[in-house]
Amino acid sequence: MQNFMEEGLELSLKESLKRIQEGILTGTSYFGIPALKCPLDAWVYQEIITRQRPDVILEIGNAYGGSTLFFAHLLDLLGHGRVIGIDISHENIAEIVKKHPRIHLMEGNACQLNDQVYTLIEQDEQVLVIEDSSHTFENTLNILRLYSGLVKPGGYFIVEDTICHHGLVTSPELGPYEAVESFLKEDPTFFPDRELEHFFITWNPKGFLKKRSNG
Ligand SMILES: C[S@@+](CC[C@H](N)C(=O)[O-])C[C@H]1O[C@@H](n2cnc3c(N)ncnc32)[C@H](O)[C@@H]1O
Repeated sequence: MQNFMEEGLELSLKESLKRIQEGILTGTSYFGIPALKCPLDAWVYQEIITRQRPDVILEIGNAYGGSTLFFAHLLDLLGHGRVIGIDISHENIAEIVKKHPRIHLMEGNACQLNDQVYTLIEQDEQVLVIEDSSHTFENTLNILRLYSGLVKPGGYFIVEDTICHHGLVTSPELGPYEAVESFLKEDPTFFPDRELEHFFITWNPKGFLKKRSNG
């Protein structure tokens, strides 16, 4: 494995993505808490959140909570909004995340919590949905169907890790990318906003779904 960039300048993009993924899975943190996210994408999220000032960020799949805290801190800086975090288990979530006043955690299968989530959100609130849970085709498509109704025109539903088999060879074979393609056929009110892939490298190719302004 190459350890330093200057020794790896001849690596292919495919090999470089693999190398970055190893870094994401083993050593990326926010505020001292593991955050399993490509930092280039986290910066794009910051751009979306600052521009849109969502009322609610719904993060599906929180793991240790590093990303959840990152969103809450951005909302602190904006002085607006709250985070709803769903995970099958919050066993590994850091105390600082549990105690943050803008964060509301819900434990359980996201595919069964949609009715409860909808009761926590007002009709006119803009919601940024970030799906980062099991990455199987069925689960991702189900979550798109269940939660896309929360996104208002001009807002975003981000499906993470569409890079599975579209940049990285990692399971499952049919995953988020294919779920996005199926969903877009069902619901033309969304389209992939590929301008948000402006760093070129992203773990979410075709995954930044924007709700059309007339959608
Ligand atoms: C990739 S991790 C999330 C990483 C986190 N978003 C971050 O950026 O640090 C995936 C998480 O999704 C959770 N998960 C998997 N399937 C789920 C489901 N159906 N509903 C809720 N959570 C789920 C897992 O328990 C796991 O903690």
